[in-house]
Amino acid sequence: MKHLSKPLSLPGAVPGTELLGRSVIYVPAADSTNAYLARLARKGQEEGTVVAADSQWAGRGRRGRNWHSAPGLGLWFSVLLRPGGPPGGALDTSPPLGLITLMAGVAAAEAIGAAAGGGTVSGGSGAGSAAAAAAGGRAQTMVSGAGDTAAPPVGATPPAGIKWPNDVLLGGRKTAGILAESGTGPGREQRWVALGIGINVNHGPKDFPEDLRSKAVSIAAIRGGPVPREPLFISLIQNLDRLYALWRQGRHGTMLNRWRELCVHMGRPVTVTGSGVAFSGRTIDVTAEGLLAVETDSGVRYAAAGEVSLGWDGCTGP
Ligand code: BTN
Repeated sequence: MKHLSKPLSLPGAVPGTELLGRSVIYVPAADSTNAYLARLARKGQEEGTVVAADSQWAGRGRRGRNWHSAPGLGLWFSVLLRPGGPPGGALDTSPPLGLITLMAGVAAAEAIGAAAGGGTVSGGSGAGSAAAAAAGGRAQTMVSGAGDTAAPPVGATPPAGIKWPNDVLLGGRKTAGILAESGTGPGREQRWVALGIGINVNHGPKDFPEDLRSKAVSIAAIRGGPVPREPLFISLIQNLDRLYALWRQGRHGTMLNRWRELCVHMGRPVTVTGSGVAFSGRTIDVTAEGLLAVETDSGVRYAAAGEVSLGWDGCTGP
């Protein structure tokens, strides 16, 4: 894939939004856009500010991992939310924070699916679901093809789906990740969330480190040609703005239902590992707190953190 040398050219404010994206700060390079935004948040930066960078030298992933951010090839940005006072405090009247990351997954999957040309998984509740059939069985292909390095056949652009908690997948491989980090500031009562989103947009296989090549994919590789980053950025922020407005009103039911539809392993076997747990079972739901509900041989278990791998490993442990 050809490297795009043109720097991101973003508007100073995202059009058509109420709150998110009303101020967009572009920096050619940052340590991490989440870290950059956190520094601004502590000094009182207004809610809705977005920081986007063309490259990150210390991009952060979930569970303390690094996030590989190839210069000029992806979208690496963070959105500042101020969802209320500290958790459990007098000002904490907001819905659960876990919902924010689910919301970001939905916003990202919808925008990425459109940019890739395959839309989104529409109904992931099992191999026999009407929606999977309507997608020409492609949702099924995506699940079983996890980790596959083969390019999708021509004319079979896979739809975007979500793997809990919020990895956006195309063709079973990771296209985007989301990391929400929170703190307080400038005052002790002023909670902020830096909602960081990283999207592999124009990478070719060689633009990923070797150990990621079988697991990661760019939108361009799926689409079969370069993808302009700016319209993708704008549509994602617009999606997020709409969902966040509903979240603030406590009207997140529709978003949760959409998440369930987009989840590529809903109704299917998974293995959950990490944070001291390892168990296999069948995904049955996601809760309003963002927990994954898995039906195991010993009853329903709820995952709050950790990794999901698709398939049944027979783990029953703690
Ligand atoms: C994951 O591990 O899946 C989450 C990856 C999140 C990466 C994004 S890129 C923009 C923002 N800045 C960071 O340092 N991380 C997030």
